[in-house]
Amino acid sequence: MKILGLCGSLRSGSLNAAVLRSAAELTLPPRELAVDPGLDRLPFFDADVEQTALPGVVAELRAAVGAADALLIVTPEYAHGTSGVLKNALEWLVGGGEVAAKPVGLASASPAITGGDRARAWLAETLAAMDARVIPRELRIPQATLRIAGGRVTDEPTLAALAGLLDDLAHAVAEAREDSDSLAS
Ligand SMILES: Cc1cc2nc3c(=O)[nH]c(=O)nc-3n(C[C@H](O)[C@H](O)[C@H](O)COP(=O)(O)O)c2cc1C
Repeated sequence: MKILGLCGSLRSGSLNAAVLRSAAELTLPPRELAVDPGLDRLPFFDADVEQTALPGVVAELRAAVGAADALLIVTPEYAHGTSGVLKNALEWLVGGGEVAAKPVGLASASPAITGGDRARAWLAETLAAMDARVIPRELRIPQATLRIAGGRVTDEPTLAALAGLLDDLAHAVAEAREDSDSLAS
């Protein structure tokens, strides 16, 4: 099972990137978690460019998303929403259709007590519009500076919750496969 991790923060010391790093370390064969190299490589979404000359980096992202069985998206909360880089990436992915029916797990880390709840809610709405299968279990990490250090999640209950999110994502992949098998037969 291949999971692709997307991070909405570009910051070198990002709390959310740390969540993705820890998720990758918790993922053992036969599961794989590959982290996207950085959504800042994408140009701003432009429907004219999409129609006339799709940038190679966008084609690569679409292919990586298409090849993944599931997505794990971690988002910072900026001004009560998700980040511009993540929204921009999702806009490029609308036209490709690779996200449709794809199981998606959401996590957010914030120094605030609200844990990025509004950013995840915002993301879930966008992903619903793209027909993604956002799994019911989400991971909120409030007061994240107390739970993340040295680029890793250090808080045991948060690590357990992250492992639970990955397990639920794997179950969603199995369910999606059963659904597509029964449609094919
Ligand atoms: C422009 C800006 C807006 C922010 N808005 C919010 C917000 O609405 N809610 C919140 O919980 N944190 C907010 N924060 C704080 C971020 O949650 C914090 O910087 C966090 O560490 C960003 O995620 P990262 O560590 O993964 O980069 C904001 C930070 C910035 C720079």
